[in-house]
Amino acid sequence: MNQETYNFNAGPAILPRQVFIEAQQGIINFDNSGLSILEISHRSALFSNLLEDTKLRLSTLLKIPDTYEIIFCPGGATQQFSMVPLNLITEPNTKSGGYLISGSWSIKAFEEAKNLANATEVASSKSANFRLLPTIVTPPKNLAYVHLTSNNTIFGTQYQTEPNVGELPLICDASSDILSRPLDINKYGLIYAGAQKNLGPAGVTLVIIKKSLVPEIAEKNKIPTMLNYRTFTEHDSCYNTPPVFAIYIMNLVLKWIETQGGLSVIAKLNQIKANLLYNFLEESDLFIPYADKSCRSRMNVTFTLSDKTLEKKFAEESLKRNFIGLEGHRSVGGFRASIYNSMPVSSVERLVEFMQDFSKVC
Ligand SMILES: Cc1ncc(COP(=O)(O)O)c(C=O)c1O
Repeated sequence: MNQETYNFNAGPAILPRQVFIEAQQGIINFDNSGLSILEISHRSALFSNLLEDTKLRLSTLLKIPDTYEIIFCPGGATQQFSMVPLNLITEPNTKSGGYLISGSWSIKAFEEAKNLANATEVASSKSANFRLLPTIVTPPKNLAYVHLTSNNTIFGTQYQTEPNVGELPLICDASSDILSRPLDINKYGLIYAGAQKNLGPAGVTLVIIKKSLVPEIAEKNKIPTMLNYRTFTEHDSCYNTPPVFAIYIMNLVLKWIETQGGLSVIAKLNQIKANLLYNFLEESDLFIPYADKSCRSRMNVTFTLSDKTLEKKFAEESLKRNFIGLEGHRSVGGFRASIYNSMPVSSVERLVEFMQDFSKVC
């Protein structure tokens, strides 16, 4: 038998084995229709039922109130960097989008908002090399919203609570921690998340938007059709052909989360996995945690080696032992263990054992 493979990739990332087993059936014969999920029409009852079921499961798991719409967009989280300012900065001459700069993804979102409308840096942790998270003292005046990245996939930091933005809509890029813990949706104006970490495969982006933030009909013609939230809310995400297969896999992932016991159980497991790694890093002389203790991510654990000459050896040895995807992002180096929802506690235990062994023999 092949040696077990441990997938610590940052995204696309590990998905539950159970989902793959069920998806095999859906590819051959979806819902006893005699058709593959890959060949059904997005206008069929088969797909509308799947879409409704997916929204219902999301609403239940995340306790999404009726005052919000759930839509599925193409273009990844990166497309949301454009859609958010295009839709929400309705008066670019007097209002701007406020951005909390906590790492590479928030910088990209900020730059896009500057290109398309008007954007203001509210706070930044750049001077701390993004080991810390920026906090807001008083939001500047004339903002249309405040945007934050809840989990910084590259630097390994994560907000534990929402910053206080007063009456302003809080817009959140939750691409790398959606469904990793319960959320109070009422605190947000809009949440978006590319699927390929905790939700399913790449190709669909979940958007949860407060109904009052969807552009008015009068605004409709000013925003390109496929970048307009109203197009998605008015046509139930089916104005054009939606990513049917990615939504199907998301549906299976949601069912899997339910079988685990829902988001509070998932959050506890995520905490256990993160503690295993951070406790080891705290005690190790060789492995050094990157993020400040106050804001460490439970999804992406970043670390470096105190002896840089051993980094290449560690990377090689980890691959030999089938620990995949531990190299840090190309922009920052070091290492990163991504331990999303589907990562079993036992795989993190194996990783810690391997790192302990490596520390002894290197
Ligand atoms: C926090 C965050 N935002 C945005 C993105 C970009 O996502 P996409 O590739 O779906 O555009 C990523 C990708 O890893 C991410 O981690």
